[in-house]
Amino acid sequence: MKASAYEECYGAIVAIWKDEGGNTLDDIALMATINSVLANRFTTYYWTGFYRVCGDRLVVGPYIGTVGCLQIQFGKGVCGTAAARRETLIVPDVNQFPGHIACDAASKSEIVVPLFDPAGELIGMLDIDSDQFDAFDEEDRAGLERIVGLFRQT
Ligand code: SME
Repeated sequence: MKASAYEECYGAIVAIWKDEGGNTLDDIALMATINSVLANRFTTYYWTGFYRVCGDRLVVGPYIGTVGCLQIQFGKGVCGTAAARRETLIVPDVNQFPGHIACDAASKSEIVVPLFDPAGELIGMLDIDSDQFDAFDEEDRAGLERIVGLFRQT
């Protein structure tokens, strides 16, 4: 079910990227495109956006949703922890995650996926929040990891 929705999103993002010469643009253009396609397809997403690696911290990038925190230290919160580990984190209940950064009290669960550049360097995180508990699973992980794999190709 979700797998086919992610397939559709992947196809839409790649089509826009190819048709409009996205590979001559920058990561922000790809982030904004991914946000729009995902947030419009998955209306259950409460917050969809990116944090970018800037030195020793993450700084907010393009997002769709309520106001997000501007910066997150590596190792802090869900994003900072996933960034330090360089791996996807699925958190079914953010209240149970030690050090969770509550930008918006309505956020109940989240998935955070790392982005890598073509050299394999960590360049940021895709952060998606839901206002429902336990909203994300392995289908989301697979679908989102495939989409952010596009940053490796830019
Ligand atoms: N929940 C995140 C902070 C960012 S917001 O959700 C937009 C975290 O703990 O990393």
